Amino acid sequence: AEAGWPRLDRIPHPPRRIPLIGDVLGANARTPVQDSMDIGRRLGPVFRRKAFGKEIVFVWGARLAAELADEARFAKHVGLGVANLRPVAGDGLFTAYNHEPNWQLAHDILAPGFSREAMAGYHPLMLDVAGQLTARWDAAAAAGRAVDVPGDMTKLTLETISRTGFGHDFGSFERARPHPFVTAMVGTLSHAQRRNVLPPALAPVLLRRAERRNAADMAYLNSTVDGVVAARRAADASGARGDLLDRMLEVAHPGTGERLSPENIRRQVITFLVAGHETTSGALSFALHYLAAHPDVLARARDEVDRVWGATETPAYEQVAKLRYVRRALDEALRLWPTAPAFAREALADTVLGGTHPMRRGAWALVLTMLLHRDPEAWGPRPEEFDPDRFAPAAVRSRPAHVFKPFGTGARACIGRQFALHEATLVLGLLLRRYDLVPDPGYRLRVVERLTLMPQGLRLRLVRRAG
Ligand code: HEM
Repeated sequence: AEAGWPRLDRIPHPPRRIPLIGDVLGANARTPVQDSMDIGRRLGPVFRRKAFGKEIVFVWGARLAAELADEARFAKHVGLGVANLRPVAGDGLFTAYNHEPNWQLAHDILAPGFSREAMAGYHPLMLDVAGQLTARWDAAAAAGRAVDVPGDMTKLTLETISRTGFGHDFGSFERARPHPFVTAMVGTLSHAQRRNVLPPALAPVLLRRAERRNAADMAYLNSTVDGVVAARRAADASGARGDLLDRMLEVAHPGTGERLSPENIRRQVITFLVAGHETTSGALSFALHYLAAHPDVLARARDEVDRVWGATETPAYEQVAKLRYVRRALDEALRLWPTAPAFAREALADTVLGGTHPMRRGAWALVLTMLLHRDPEAWGPRPEEFDPDRFAPAAVRSRPAHVFKPFGTGARACIGRQFALHEATLVLGLLLRRYDLVPDPGYRLRVVERLTLMPQGLRLRLVRRAG
C-alpha cells in the first residue's frame, strides 16, 4: 500500500518494529482482527501495521470511515482475505474486481432474487428449517442437555441458504458432525486468513502441507457444487422454481441478453453457499449469547414476540419485520461483533483522506468495522455495553451517517442483507417464544476468527416454556 500513501509517516504505527518481519511477531496470528482492535484503540482513528514489508492502513474513526463510504471518491478494494479467496470464488459476486464484467452481469441477474417477493417466497422454507432446529432443541431441552449454539446455527443457516437458493438439502440436522462441505469451507476460510499473516516468501514452505489440504478442500467444494447444478439440470431446466440457481441457469441479462457461463455459475454457487450462511450463523450466535446474558433485554424481546405473533403457530412473512425490538437486539449484536469484521476501500482518484492523508488513485485502507462500531464519538461513552435501545429510531436519527456498517457499503454492499435479517429475526422470534435460555455461568465470551467472527464454545441450556 505504501506507494499509494505518499505521507505514510503521518500515520501512527505500533512502536515495536522488527526489520523484515514488521509488527506481526508478538501478535497473535489467530486473532488478527481483535489484535488490530487493541492496537487501534491505542493509536487512534487511522493507523498502520506492517506485515512482512507490506504496510496496511486501518481506518476506524467515524468521520474517516464516512469519507471512505463516499462512492464518488472510493470503491470496494479486493485485497487481503477477500483476494485470498479468489482461488475458490473467482469472479463470483463477493470476490470480483469492480472492473470485471461478470460482477455487473451477475448482480443484475441475481438482485431480483432478493426482492420482497422473493423473500416472501423463501419464508415457508425458512420456517421448515427452523422447525428442524426446534425439534432438535426440544429433545435437548427434554434431556437437560446443553446445545452447541454456533454448531446448530451453522446447520440452520447452511440448510436455509441451500434449500431456498438451490433446492438442495445437505441433511445437516441428521448428522452428528458438521457436513464435510462446512469443514471444507472453514478450512479454506482459515487458510485464506493465515496467508495474510505469513510472509509471502516463506508462505510456500510453511504452508506446503496446508496448501495441499486447501487444494483438497477446494476440490470438495467444487464437486459438491457441480453435483447441485447437475441435479437441477437433470430435474428440470424450466426455471420453474425461480430460486437463485434457476436465475443463474435460466435468466439472461435484461439489457444485454447475456448469460452466466457454467464456470461463473460454479463460482456463484460456492459464493452464495459460503457468504450466505457463515456470517448469519455468527450473528445469530452472538445475539443468543447477549440475550441469554441480559435477562431484561430477553424479557422485553419475548414480550414483543408474544404480543406481535400472539397465538399464531407459524408467523407469516409480514409478521417478522414487526419484531422491532428483536431486530434491535440483532443489530446491537452485529454492532459489537460484525461477523464480517472489516472491508477494504480504494481511492478512485488521487485524494486526501481527512484533509491530512494524501492517497493516490488505487491506494486502499481497511475499514475496521468492529472498532468503527465502538467509536465513542458516534456511540457515546460506553460503547462496549450491549444496549438494543441504541437502535431505537430517535437514537439512530441522532447519530451521524455511515457509522453502522455490518453489511459493508455502496454498490458492493451485501446483496443478502434482507435475507440475513429476515432469517435471523424469524429464528430469534421462534426461539424466544419457545425456550428460556440458561447461560452457562462459567462461560466467558471468546471470539474465534476465520475471516469471520464466531463465539467460541458457546453453549446454552434450554427450558421449554409452558403454553
Ligand atoms: C457482501 C456481510 C449475509 C451474500 C458482503 C459484505 C459484507 C457482508 C460486509 C461486503 C464485503 C466487502 O465490502 O468486501 C454480511 C453479514 C451477513 C451477510 C454480516 C449476515 C449477518 C449474507 C447472505 C448472503 C450474502 C445471507 C446471501 C444469501 C453476499 C454477497 C456479497 C456480500 C454475494 C458480495 C456482494 C457484491 O459485491 O456484489 N456481505 N453478509 N451475505 N454478501 Fe453478505
